[in-house]
Amino acid sequence: MPSPLTPALALLVLALTSATSALSPSELELDVRPSAAAPVTPRPFVAAVSEFVWADGYPERDLAAEPDAPWRRNLETVRRHAATAAQQGADLLVLAEYAILKVWPRAQLAVYAAQLPPVEDMVVICDDPTQHEAIRNLSCLAREHQMYIVANFVTKELCSADSDSACPEDGVSLYNTNLVFDRTGALIQTYHKYNLFGIELEHLQKPAPHLSAFRTDFGAVIGLMTCFDILFELPGVEMTRRGVTHFAFPTDWGDELPSLSALQMHSAWPRGLGVTLLSSGIHYLAEGSIGSGIFTGSGALGYLYDYSAEGAEGGVVTATVPAGCSWGADSCPSDQAPAGRQVRSAPAAGNTDDYYPIQNYNVSEFVSAPLSGRSQRLCDGEFCCDLTVSQQRPVTGAESGATYRLLVLDGRRNFAPHWSTQICAVVLCAGADQASCSTFPAGVAPPPPAPFSLRGSFSADWAVFPSVIRTHMELAAEWFYSRPTGQLEVADTGRLLVAQLYGRNYALDQP
Ligand SMILES: *[C@@H]1O[C@H](CO)[C@@H](O)[C@H](O)[C@H]1NC(C)=O
Ligand SMILES: *[C@@H]1O[C@H](CO)[C@@H](O)[C@H](O)[C@H]1NC(C)=O
Repeated sequence: MPSPLTPALALLVLALTSATSALSPSELELDVRPSAAAPVTPRPFVAAVSEFVWADGYPERDLAAEPDAPWRRNLETVRRHAATAAQQGADLLVLAEYAILKVWPRAQLAVYAAQLPPVEDMVVICDDPTQHEAIRNLSCLAREHQMYIVANFVTKELCSADSDSACPEDGVSLYNTNLVFDRTGALIQTYHKYNLFGIELEHLQKPAPHLSAFRTDFGAVIGLMTCFDILFELPGVEMTRRGVTHFAFPTDWGDELPSLSALQMHSAWPRGLGVTLLSSGIHYLAEGSIGSGIFTGSGALGYLYDYSAEGAEGGVVTATVPAGCSWGADSCPSDQAPAGRQVRSAPAAGNTDDYYPIQNYNVSEFVSAPLSGRSQRLCDGEFCCDLTVSQQRPVTGAESGATYRLLVLDGRRNFAPHWSTQICAVVLCAGADQASCSTFPAGVAPPPPAPFSLRGSFSADWAVFPSVIRTHMELAAEWFYSRPTGQLEVADTGRLLVAQLYGRNYALDQP
């Protein structure tokens, strides 16, 4: 229970809290660099994303092999991917999170981390032998291929525990950092990952929130965010409110069914917000990490999702991104891109037993029911999902163990932080019971459900992220989502795996 305060003390507490309390998202400054550059009329540009395979299978093995430079062989892969992107005319290449350096614990990281010159100086690091070798080489690559490169590396800043209470004992602050090089190799912008995930909380510094973006010579202003950030309001969602329409997104994402595979969330975020996301991921099947792509507000321009043996090489996806609207314009057309085109996918249809390891979320707190009838309403407390079928299909015998269910959830994820979710989904469950709805289906798939529309009773303060994926982790093409009405219509239900409306209310999150 709060203790009563004397008025004077209450005032003091008030003063202290307001002095130290964080700015609200809308009070943060949008930091677009280079700040002196004049706006340019947008033109279409070629974007490249890279699906990255660590040189040694698992990054920590690099350490023993190359104690001096555990990034060396990963940089060779980066060099190959940059050359491929350049051959395809890329204006911009995004590289995956932790693609070059991933070592724990913190003491080790502190040795390898890079210390950067201030971005205001726009230093061409390539020319400066005193700079970190890995960062120098990235700068050289950008200059050699005359393209923008967004890379991810661990960086350090020296601090003093005497003057700065947030400074660790060893006087080194470590950050998960995105670095942006322009076509001359100059370092023009950085971004420290704000929403740290799991093990990062132990080893890295939580930075102040930063709405970090960069201005390109093709007119797009590109916002920066990293992996786990995609689930939260800062920095990405707040930047979309300021008119930023393109995002570079390095990630190292572990897939989870039924709601949080890379393919689902990384395509749903731009679809829900009407923006473009350039997602570069790590390809590491043992941790269910797979999938990269160029996703717009109206579908994928290209993506890579290949867990076959051939996919073990990773690769580069390029696509021409339409110019879109001028940055800062009052309104942007939302559907500017053609429908999805698949670059490479998983093994062709057939038996489904060759899936990769994935995190199976415990769905026991969902409410669920088998699909039935022409119109079905299912609620979790006050939150309801409505599924409507225009034309009932004849019910066929259940030859397969797998079945379709409607799943509904109004909850908060039990994690740090606890994020609020409302979910409405049609899911192909591996068996007849709800618990199997987070497992890949095995054997013969059941007949697809009739084409349907799906709606959740989200109130206006919820952001809704729609996605439709098919078995073997393909993006479905023939579906439509109306942002104004919140209605998801799935026309082609063939090989449907999950059709989902994933809602977030950032104000309801808890630490
Ligand atoms: C960096 O680039 C230089 C010159 O191109 C090369 O000799 C060196 O091996 C590269 N270092 C790494 C770690 O790739
Ligand atoms: C899932 O969560 C429920 C409720 O917390 C629990 O009773 C059940 O044992 C869990 N199932 C598994 C497989 O962990």
